[in-house]
Order: sequence, then structure tokens, then C-alpha cells
Amino acid sequence: MTQLEKILKQAQAERHALTREEIVTLLSLTDPADLQRLHAAAYEVKLRHSGKVVSFRGIIEMGNVCSKDCFYCGIRKGNTEVERFQLAEETILRGVKRNIDMEYGSLVLQSGEIESDAHTAFIEKLLHRITEMSAGKLGITLSLGEQSEETFARWRAAGAHRYLLRIETSNPALYAKLHPVGHNFERRVNCLRLLRKHDYQVGSGVMSGLPGQTYSDLANDILFFHELDLDMIGMGPYIPHHDTPLGQEIAFTPDYAADHLRIGLNMISVARLYLHDVNIAATTALQALADDGREQGILAGANVVMPNITDTEYRRNYQLYENKPCLDENSEQCRLCLARRLEKIGETVNWNQRGDSPHYAARQ
Ligand code: 5AD
Ligand code: FES
Repeated sequence: MTQLEKILKQAQAERHALTREEIVTLLSLTDPADLQRLHAAAYEVKLRHSGKVVSFRGIIEMGNVCSKDCFYCGIRKGNTEVERFQLAEETILRGVKRNIDMEYGSLVLQSGEIESDAHTAFIEKLLHRITEMSAGKLGITLSLGEQSEETFARWRAAGAHRYLLRIETSNPALYAKLHPVGHNFERRVNCLRLLRKHDYQVGSGVMSGLPGQTYSDLANDILFFHELDLDMIGMGPYIPHHDTPLGQEIAFTPDYAADHLRIGLNMISVARLYLHDVNIAATTALQALADDGREQGILAGANVVMPNITDTEYRRNYQLYENKPCLDENSEQCRLCLARRLEKIGETVNWNQRGDSPHYAARQ
């Protein structure tokens, strides 16, 4: 048995078995045969925890108004090229109805970050109406940025079960380079702790392949996921956006896409091998780098996909990064397309199931 096979066997047998050094070794693999071994080993662990099944969560991008100015993000406050929108309650509820009709057992509500009493109340009312509409059956995830403890508590009480808030990088110095003054790493971490305290299934994650990021940083990210005892992981490759300070100087070439896809997939595999029973998303950003990027994500160990159910007319104004897929498609097309793509790799969809994180159930 080679050294690599030994490491992979040990990681499969027991979670948290990898040392920091081994994590770095796995993340930096580039040889195609090694990559295949890594992904296959992680896929086996995925099969053990969720079978040949992928959980869908329809995502509604509710608005692109954002108070933050992250240097990498296409809807940053400072980007004047993007037309701002905010969906009305009835429009969002039509999307929710579509989500239910399409038999997605869970829903994600995402928007730019807004902190105000009016916004808190708007989301709270929306959550009550969604809970009523779905007879409490739908899994409801929020992805609405940093908020006060009171707001988190109110949204939880109104029916949200899960919250996604990416740490983006667990390296505070790199975090500071990616964000303007006033964006606060400690507050972000504290929000994750508050979400945990208020009994959310907590999800976080990072972007991989950021300028200045090392394999050692990425290894620390995975250790950080464990330290925070996360239930859900959403990670994706960093993809430049030309209207942002970070993205305007980076050439989005085929080599860039190939390298970043490899790193993104390796992150999924190593997270699966280290954490075992968490939900891990094959994020849409993977598909911006390769047509079958999301399928590759599943085969590397992810078990969740988030089909876009935003009305097509708004999709163009919600491009956090370039080359985002599905801009011209509608929800029904994405549903059929994704189901077909998964069928091709021998996976089925968890229709009408919430697909809660097994890790959350285990820690209850
Ligand atoms: N490339 C990849 N992911 C991005 N995000 C924002 N901008 C980009 C980009 N340029 C991700 C961030 C954020 C999530 C909603 O989208 O990680 O948390
Ligand atoms: Fe939207 Fe394929 S997933 S078109």
C-alpha cells in the first residue's frame, strides 16, 4: 500500500484522523491518478452517510442590495454597474410555492446583507407565511449575513432551521486583505457561535484559490470547520469578477479554471474525509469552471445541490462572480437539467425530504 492509500484508509475509518500535515498533502495533490484516489475515497464516505442520494434546496436570491463592500463580490456596495433589486413578499412567496411544487424539500433564502429593524421584521413575517404555506414541512435555510443575536433568535422562532454564513477564510490577516476596514472577522466568528446557541443547523465555508491563500490556510480552514463543529459546509472556488477591486486584475483563463476546479474539489474531498457526517454542497461556482463541475463535486464527496429558483429576469443582477451558469434558464429547466445530470452519475434526488445534516442529528 502506498503512503497515500494508507492516509486515505485511515481517514475513511475514523473522522478527525488526519494530521494538519496530511491535510496539506491531500489538498495539494495534482497527479490525476492521485486525485482520482482522493475523490473516490471521499465519495465512499459520502455514500456511507447519505447513500447515492443528493439533497436539493431551491435557492431564491431575494435581493442584491448590500451594505458590505467585500473586494471579491460582484454585488458589493461599491459596484455601481449593477442594477439593484429587492423582491416583494408576494414574489418571494410565489418562488416558495414553486419550490414546494417542484418537490424540493428545503429552501434557501439569500440576499445581500442588510441590518435594520424593517428588514428583520420583513424576514420574520415572510418566515411565518412560509411555515404556514408548507405546513411546517419545508427545511428553511437563511443566508442573510451577519445579524444581531436578537435578529437570529427572532428568525429562528419564526421558522428558520438553518443558517449559512461563510467565514470566507479562517486566516484573519487574509480576511483583512479581502475586506475593507469595518468588516470584522471576530464578529463573523461570533455570529456563527450565536447561531449555534440559538439551535440553528449552522453552515459555513470558505472560498478556495484566493490570491495570497496557501494550502496551509486551506488546511486551517478545515480544522476550523471542526473546531466550530459545523453541520453544513458550503465552499467554492474564488472566481474573479471584473467590476471588483480583487477581480479586475486576474485573468480568467482555462488554466485558471482547471487549477481552481482542482483545488475546489480537493477541499470538498478533504472536508468529507475529515468531518464525515456533515452536509457539503456542490456549489454553483464549480459549474462556472466546468460544465459538469457540480457533478464532479458530488463525486468528490458533496451531497447537496442548490438549484436556482429565482425568476430568470433577476438572475443577471445577482452575479457574485463571472461566468455564473443558469442565467437564462428558468426554475423548471434547472430542475430537469440537474436531475438529469445527477442521474448520469448514478445519483438520485431526495425529493420532498428536508435532508437535514446527519451531524446535527448526532449532536442533539
Ligand atoms: N467568487 C466565488 N465566490 C464568491 N462569493 C462572493 N464573491 C465570490 C467570487 N467572486 C461567495 C462568498 C459568499 C457567497 C454567498 O458567495 O463566499 O459568502
Ligand atoms: Fe440550471 Fe442546468 S442547472 S440549466
